[in-house]
Amino acid sequence: SFPQQVRIVEVGPRDGLQNEPGPIIPTETKVELINRLANAGVSHIEAASFVSPKWVPQMGDAAAVMAGIDRRSGVTYSALTPNLKGLEGAIAANTPEVAVFAAASEAFSQKNINCSIAESLERFVPVMEQAQAAGIRVRGYVSTVLGCPYAGDIAPAQVAAVSRALMDMGCYEVSLGDTIGKGTPLKAKQMLEAVAKEVPMDRIAAHFHDTYGQALANLYAVLEEGVSVIDSSTAGLGGCPYAKGASGNVATEDVLYLLEGLGIKTGINLQAVVDTGHWITRELGRHNGSKVAQALGEC
Ligand code: HMG
Ligand code: MG
Repeated sequence: SFPQQVRIVEVGPRDGLQNEPGPIIPTETKVELINRLANAGVSHIEAASFVSPKWVPQMGDAAAVMAGIDRRSGVTYSALTPNLKGLEGAIAANTPEVAVFAAASEAFSQKNINCSIAESLERFVPVMEQAQAAGIRVRGYVSTVLGCPYAGDIAPAQVAAVSRALMDMGCYEVSLGDTIGKGTPLKAKQMLEAVAKEVPMDRIAAHFHDTYGQALANLYAVLEEGVSVIDSSTAGLGGCPYAKGASGNVATEDVLYLLEGLGIKTGINLQAVVDTGHWITRELGRHNGSKVAQALGEC
């Protein structure tokens, strides 16, 4: 059955901006995006990424972003940390929550973080220990859960095994990434069933990209199974630099509209997110990927 409440994790400032071509987006623009989202009622914002700036230049100002944002009470600001160096940066920038990211596909792991799945899990153990010692919560991602741009189909059991490993090492939640948006509702449900045998349903988040236009349908399918945490990106911004052709995450505006129609609460003001999406797409000179934002216009 459907959850009564859903927590939205807004990943636009990270997943949405990390792949933006062209000049580096000014730090002030990133900061304003994050502040606007917090003002709209978003309680969880992935704000930055402490990764190698050679790999992902758009996230090179993570420390400045974390220093520039308002810290609204009740809002969790998080950042990606692939290794200890990333965690050290996140701690120095006073980041209250971090995320490690693994993949269900060996080929994707190599392309994205330059190591095997097993090596990545080993690398996360000290990250986890030091984060816990610093009082920082750690989220875990699994990428390519419904298909890999290099290896094709991914077995649900493989997704379940990596999810289990992340939970066992101490992640408080595992976010299942359909990195290239290839999934369909039946596949999403089958994958979720496999993961839910290893991880409690209330510790599972859905992180769906919309490359094939299936993200909302896939979300409906997993909501029905009880998933109550959804990652999304304002205006559908984004893509993954190591997954060619992947488009953005499902648009936050579209998810909010779907959830409102189902009577599921989020605590977020839809129109304020719509306005934010129009503002940031104007700043970036980019198309607004949210149908709901296009329909509602700007206030
Ligand atoms: P590597 O080259 O194997 O790392 O990269 P290394 O340890 O050999 O270090 C090489 C250089 O990078 C060194 O600098 C390090 O200091 C530096 P040099 O001596 O050459 O000047 N370095 C760093 N600099 C800043 N911050 C760090 C850091 N670590 C090393 N944390 C590494 C390995 C993991 C660093 C690299 O592959 C990397 O940064 N990858 C990030 C890829 C990425 O950010 N991908 C996008 C996010 S994941 C995603 O979008 C999927 C998700 O949304 C879910 C989904 O949709 O599926 C989460
Ligand atoms: Mg993603």
